[in-house]
Amino acid sequence: MSSLENVRIFNNKDAIIEGWYWALKSTDLKKNKTKHLNFLGKELALYRGDDGIARAVDAYCPHMGAHLAEGKVEGNGLRCFFHAWKFDEAGKLVDIPCRAKTDVAASIKTWPTEEMYGLIWVYTGEAAKQPVPYIPELKEFELDTSFGNNFVKECHPNVVMINAIDAHHFTSVHNLPVKVEFETIVRSSDCIAFENRTFIPKTKWYLNLFSKFYENYLTYNMCYWNASTGSVTVGPDFLHCHIIFALRPNAIGHAEGQTILVTKKRTGLMGFFVNPLILWATKQVGNYFGKGDTEVFKTIKFNLKTPIKEDDSIIKFVQHTEKQTTCDWGFGVKKMLDNSVKEKDFHEETLQTRFTNTTSM
Ligand code: FES
Ligand SMILES: [Fe+2]
Repeated sequence: MSSLENVRIFNNKDAIIEGWYWALKSTDLKKNKTKHLNFLGKELALYRGDDGIARAVDAYCPHMGAHLAEGKVEGNGLRCFFHAWKFDEAGKLVDIPCRAKTDVAASIKTWPTEEMYGLIWVYTGEAAKQPVPYIPELKEFELDTSFGNNFVKECHPNVVMINAIDAHHFTSVHNLPVKVEFETIVRSSDCIAFENRTFIPKTKWYLNLFSKFYENYLTYNMCYWNASTGSVTVGPDFLHCHIIFALRPNAIGHAEGQTILVTKKRTGLMGFFVNPLILWATKQVGNYFGKGDTEVFKTIKFNLKTPIKEDDSIIKFVQHTEKQTTCDWGFGVKKMLDNSVKEKDFHEETLQTRFTNTTSM
């Protein structure tokens, strides 16, 4: 339990973990169009080229700082509105219209971008070290998806995420009649799963009936990616419902989320009639879990001061979060997280910077 001391990344709005984050819906970025996006403390220009691929670049033109989302898409590149410098799909400067030769060394920073589940995802590092978050048991399948709620919760994404493994509150808030006990599986440095290993008790007639739908355990599995996106798999053996909660912090550290409902692609009539029904039912499951906690997220000041054994999964989640790599995106200053910079130095440096900024205006 003592390991919850010195928590520096979990629930810290100034710490952005390197990883994939949802940016916007694919349909919100049309071919040959651009979009402004203030994303995790960084201003980006998104655009979709002739080839239909969505790309994300640092917003400000290296010539004079115009926002590149004001520019226009040309081929698979982007031309700045202001003096019409053109950058290709790799961010390389390829044309300065007023000069015969492009003899200026300048480029724009591009960020790994992918589209999945009808969303554009941006990776907050040089090269993606992991795939876009996926549901482990559906990894090999083609998928049908639809959107659930788009929401803002008044606390950090990390705090919203742990709600799904806070087995302690399943009874107190959600009235679930069974005790859930998780096995923790660390899948990679940025991915951790919690899988339920509880048999359905047969203490009541309806629980006995319920248990007929489960060969082994009650299926309730969570899989988390960079502590901000989580997938839940829940349901009887013959039908698992899958929901992805894609979250990211906004400028004040609150969670901006998009719920994604996922099922295996089915062909023919099954696909036509059954999949929409499954996705609809999945949405109801998501709503059921989402609604019980709405109020507590408005006022919570998360501080697990008195952990007990039943909080074990949460502690493991926090510990795993603390080991992840942060990036220099974000609303704060990365140096604050760097062990080599003492807090005193950091404050002095910050004050010095502020002073310099003020006096040079
Ligand atoms: S500011 Fe972009 S070309 Fe001048
Ligand atoms: Fe809950």
